Amino acid sequence: KETPIVILNFKTYLESTGENALKLAKGSEMVAEETGVNIMVHPQYADIYRIAHEVNIPVLAQHIDTIDAGGHTGSILPECVKEAGAVGTLINHSERRVELFEIDAAIKKADSLGLSTVVCTNNIETSSAAATLNPDFVAIEPPELIGSGIPVSKPEPEIVEKTVESIHNINPEVRVLCGAGISTGDDLKAAIDLGSEGVLLASGIILADDPKKALLDLVSKI
Ligand code: G3P
Repeated sequence: KETPIVILNFKTYLESTGENALKLAKGSEMVAEETGVNIMVHPQYADIYRIAHEVNIPVLAQHIDTIDAGGHTGSILPECVKEAGAVGTLINHSERRVELFEIDAAIKKADSLGLSTVVCTNNIETSSAAATLNPDFVAIEPPELIGSGIPVSKPEPEIVEKTVESIHNINPEVRVLCGAGISTGDDLKAAIDLGSEGVLLASGIILADDPKKALLDLVSKI
């Protein structure tokens, strides 16, 4: 089995902003080096450049806008996050939802730039729809469990299993992740046992007293 993937979404917590973002990214890099787990970080846009130039783990954006270069003040140009050092992006996170046609356009744009794509979905149906669009990853996160501390694998194990099954029936190339409420090594192990290749998480690590230790504990059960 391949090394699990752990995606740390920095969201917009102060604990993962600016200097704190850099510290969290460096801690994540250390844990990745010590354990061999594939850890990716998703800082806010304004922190991408610095983090991407100071750490050696993949740095990804939290979103891209499907615009072409030109007059779009305030938008996130995919080419710009790439130049800043991002190697991929989340698309359609529950906190930054877009329409189906925009998911499709964002995947195509990212593909054309060589950025990897992690499409977030909220249930089995949208996960299956996302799989037809050929992203690199689909990450299922039941929205009601986000930030709850209750891991998706506990109240809704079948949603992970059925998502993996449905996605692989549609498009075996797509890699499946799951998230929401994940914070411990047991949560990560349960996610892997249910057939996903890794997790997407935020508050359980970012708001921990010692985020680096929390991340190390999370990955050391595997
Ligand atoms: O993108 C990760 C996410 O939405 C889950 O958040 O705080 O439940 O780990 P959290």
